[in-house]
Amino acid sequence: MFNVIILTIFPEMFPGFLNYSLTGKALEKKIWNLEVVNIRFFAKDKHLTVDNVPYGGGAGMIMRPDVVGDAVDSILSAHKDTRFIYMTPSGTKFNQSIAKKLVEFSHITILCGRFEGIDQRVIDEYNPYELSIGDYVLSGGEPAAMVVLDACIRLIPGVVSNSDSIIEESFSYSGGMLEYPQYTRPEQWRKHRVPEILLSGDHKKISDWRQKQSQVITKKLRPELLDRETNDKFT
Ligand code: ADE
Repeated sequence: MFNVIILTIFPEMFPGFLNYSLTGKALEKKIWNLEVVNIRFFAKDKHLTVDNVPYGGGAGMIMRPDVVGDAVDSILSAHKDTRFIYMTPSGTKFNQSIAKKLVEFSHITILCGRFEGIDQRVIDEYNPYELSIGDYVLSGGEPAAMVVLDACIRLIPGVVSNSDSIIEESFSYSGGMLEYPQYTRPEQWRKHRVPEILLSGDHKKISDWRQKQSQVITKKLRPELLDRETNDKFT
């Protein structure tokens, strides 16, 4: 079982799109489990304040360490074996290889920040694995956490029925290349015909053709993926 705890001030955002399709069915079948904890429950005042202005001035609001810290403590003390992750645009950039490694943990806790971020002392105290889904800034870590979870959950055996489709798809096929083009019926659509080789029934030739297509497409669209050294980092 892949157990997930989310720390957020917007618990109603979850499970969100994870409740649909493959991840939704897997949740129903208890292949993975989701617990959502509202950080606001740990607020100290009657207005349930979770943020304050930054020391030294500047725009936006910062999540308070006393509130977030108590929320984190409540989880970490009950789940000593959890892998603690903080979603932030400053984190390590998420990729397929990180998804494969994360899903090996039986328990993960994901802290989602809002506003301009979380007081640095929370990060210094817990040293979470800081994870980004790309070089852009979202309004909060919640959609990023859902993206990470989607990528992880579909790798759990039994979630995607045809396991071949996981091995062959983009970023997994032949060690991190893009997927070859796919076609289905009809053979002729408008002026476009399915490549003859796919109709040949020659499995070896088809497999070679697909591999070659993957290489050509990757070289054209994402040449940096062919440099494997830069592609497989997880700390
Ligand atoms: N929070 C805000 N932007 C983010 C991003 N790009 N990745 C992860 N968490 C975030």
